[in-house]
Amino acid sequence: MKKTHNCGELGAANKGEKVVLKGWADTRRDHGGLIFIDLRDRRGITQIAVNPAVSEAAFNLAHEVRHEFVLEVAGTVSLRPDGTVNKNLPTGEIEILADKITILNKSKTTPFPLHGAEDATEALRLKYRYLDLRRPEMRDKILLRSAIVRNIRGYLDSHGFLDIETPILTKSTPEGARDYLVPSRLYAGKFFALPQSPQLFKQILMAAGFERYYQIARCFRDEDLRADRQPEFTQVDIETSFMSSDEIMEAVENLIAGVWREFKGVEIAQPIKRMAWGEAMHKYGKDAPDTRFGLLISDATDIALRSGFNVFTQVAQKGGVVRGIGVPNATEYSRKEMDDLTEEVKIHGAKGLAWIKITATGEYVSPITKFFTPELLAALKERLGAKNGDTMMFLADDEKVVCAGLAHLRLVMGRRLGLIDDKKDEFVWIHDFPLLEWDVEEKRWVALHHPFTSPKGGEAPHAPIAGGKDGNPNLWGTLGTADAYDIVLNGTEIGGGSIRMHDAELQKKVFELLGIGDEEARQKFGFLLEALEFGCPPHGGLALGLDRLVMILTGSASIRDVIAFPKTQRAVDLMTDAPSEATTQQLKEISLKVTVQK
Ligand code: AMO
Ligand code: AMP
Repeated sequence: MKKTHNCGELGAANKGEKVVLKGWADTRRDHGGLIFIDLRDRRGITQIAVNPAVSEAAFNLAHEVRHEFVLEVAGTVSLRPDGTVNKNLPTGEIEILADKITILNKSKTTPFPLHGAEDATEALRLKYRYLDLRRPEMRDKILLRSAIVRNIRGYLDSHGFLDIETPILTKSTPEGARDYLVPSRLYAGKFFALPQSPQLFKQILMAAGFERYYQIARCFRDEDLRADRQPEFTQVDIETSFMSSDEIMEAVENLIAGVWREFKGVEIAQPIKRMAWGEAMHKYGKDAPDTRFGLLISDATDIALRSGFNVFTQVAQKGGVVRGIGVPNATEYSRKEMDDLTEEVKIHGAKGLAWIKITATGEYVSPITKFFTPELLAALKERLGAKNGDTMMFLADDEKVVCAGLAHLRLVMGRRLGLIDDKKDEFVWIHDFPLLEWDVEEKRWVALHHPFTSPKGGEAPHAPIAGGKDGNPNLWGTLGTADAYDIVLNGTEIGGGSIRMHDAELQKKVFELLGIGDEEARQKFGFLLEALEFGCPPHGGLALGLDRLVMILTGSASIRDVIAFPKTQRAVDLMTDAPSEATTQQLKEISLKVTVQK
């Protein structure tokens, strides 16, 4: 029989109609003389009433039905008796009086109950992902993701952007992560790399004259995973010619505003706030600041230098910094609680956490007050904007460690003190990133964004011979300013982009700063450099992390919740059991020998 309706659309207006529904038995309730089945499909639930007085055969069959059986039900739409209307269900006013039930497929008992699946381990839910996805909470996220992609496509299509696919089997595109490699069968010992992003291809599409490109693009990065990272993820990837960074940011704001309007019913305040990278690092300790709350960081290096506290003075004398935050409602914290907070900052390389409590009456309480004159203590209080009853917490170290540690501490305290309003969405553009940063371990300059981002003003900066901060190779430092911009939402980077170098000579100079010599540049990026030499227009773009965007929009705790078939935090697919070993024959074909090191 042909399905006439879906399980979410029948109502009182359909009273008396003969219908055919198909779906899953969500629940079955046996009331002795009457059996109720909630029939479910991706659009909703409809109650089926099976009455032997209507059909003896249907009633007998209904006894066999178990959870998740697939059914075809033919019957008549009928108003539910008074007092049994379910106001929470769109179809709650009606039920179907079953004339005929057909079991289209049976189901084994599911390994976890779909009602109450929250209690099942995530591993089990991932192994049986198709069952988990049947649950309305999970299903709705996937449906919403699909609708968001449709909305985004709608915006881009109507603004002259062309949807163009770029290769998956390609050459390494550096975005700062490790590549996934694919061995070539025809060329023994050679490999394709899966794209970390379509960066170089989209630039070349600009050289090809397409002017506006987009792609809902899959990217692959072999990096350490976190709650908001997957080895394989999706970008809304955009590139344009002849547009300035301001124009690109405005277009992206309009795109995002359209999504928020449709899916949250909220008007985003435009233009979205902008913050220079330096300000973000100083006040928030990171380039993806959560601006929904205060607890801002202040620099107290100059005051610390005048103290007798060796930990502070030594760091300051060696070019490090002393910074801190004034935390309210923490003066009652025990020694143990302060030690726990110290452990939190140690995750980021800090060597300790110095604290000074200010009592309600303005006395300073701390093991280190003895190293500070009353004037210096008052100066610290003023610098941090601390009040009586606050606790001042300080880190002294290399700037990078201090930033990372305080950024983390700020978030921990913000959450603990309930300062973060989860209902608020705060967007901010971060701009004026440094072009390059000094990698202390590798003792070389690396691109903060990627090596194709243009310096602001279109001129390569001059690097100090020794590198690092103030020419000290052991300290983290930065060089130049990039024409780059990241869009941050509630402390998560949801997108990033830049104006690129369209001048081959400038690109070569930046490669040089990065320690990529002529030979290597030609070998790795020769095709790009050549494309720049044949009349490549000025161009720039951005990529939004689609998974992260949907994750935040749906209030999901994990990026895995908004991807149909995600990998675990250990980068495996539990459903298909990938990655797995290759057969000897497969390895022979690609001329590979595997030696597993213990
Ligand atoms: P970038 O590396 O900043 O820029 O990536 C753009 C956005 O993609 C998202 N993202 C991720 N999402 C999930 N899992 C991951 N592992 C992951 N890595 C990144 C983030 C990020 O903001 N080619 C440039 C863009 C450009 O310059 O146009 C690029 O890829 O939300
Ligand atoms: P110590 O002199 O090692 O006993 O440390 C005294 C206090 O300073 C303790 O609370 C330490 O946690 C803290 N401390 C130690 N090193 C640092 C540092 N680099 N930055 C901030 N506080 C520190």
